[in-house]
Amino acid sequence: MPRKIVAANWKMNNDEYSSKKLTFDFLKYISESNNTKVLKILSVPFPFLNTVTKMCEGVDSVFVSAQNSSDYSEGAYTGEVSAKMLSSISVPFSLVGHSERREIFGESDDIVFAKTRLLLENNITPIFCCGEPINIRKDNTHLSFVEEQLNLSVFKLKSSEFKKIIIAYEPVWAIGTGETASENDISEMHRHIRSLIKSKYSSSLSNDISILYGGSLKPENAKQIFDIKNVDGGLIGGASLNAKDFIDIVNSIN
Ligand code: PGA
Repeated sequence: MPRKIVAANWKMNNDEYSSKKLTFDFLKYISESNNTKVLKILSVPFPFLNTVTKMCEGVDSVFVSAQNSSDYSEGAYTGEVSAKMLSSISVPFSLVGHSERREIFGESDDIVFAKTRLLLENNITPIFCCGEPINIRKDNTHLSFVEEQLNLSVFKLKSSEFKKIIIAYEPVWAIGTGETASENDISEMHRHIRSLIKSKYSSSLSNDISILYGGSLKPENAKQIFDIKNVDGGLIGGASLNAKDFIDIVNSIN
């Protein structure tokens, strides 16, 4: 059975003070809800990883994640943050291949794959993001587009490596737009991804990988989306910046 996971993606929001406040409020709600079967992950900006990690220490089923890491292992790459550095401060997860990294920062599938590799080598679980832009959806080629994203990156991994991955399907046109994909859109893509994993690896692996949905998830639509077959949780941007909204989303999962 895939693990149920709800991950926050703060993106480039918050400062030291508001990061602490958001984490503090979230942990307060967590202690009241006692929902330990869902893995909760906070993807926070680099400067706050240590602080948020310390605040979450000892809290059952809550972990931090980086939002990015370098495709180089170490050396003269000014401004980069390596997987090894993240590992040295015990960061257990990292997003990789988020559409904002792909689109705004020009990350190719090769770069996404290099990052994924380095994360795994450093014992960090990659949360691999994939999803199609609006023109691809309109052309009705979204299934093959996402298949290609998988083929050019995580599907190059051996099954012993691939089994450590978390997948997040995020249709680009639904991110931060308020426009959620329909139940049919989500169900079709999640089923497709699971069947691709089955043909590439095995049915047992395919049945164990968590596939999250992301894109304008909010308290009002979370339950409906989490009830869709093959949806094992969510990756939440905007709504994760409000502790109450985020915990309401966490508590919407069965
Ligand atoms: P959103 O972002 O929830 O604000 O649409 C999701 C994401 O980018 O991970």
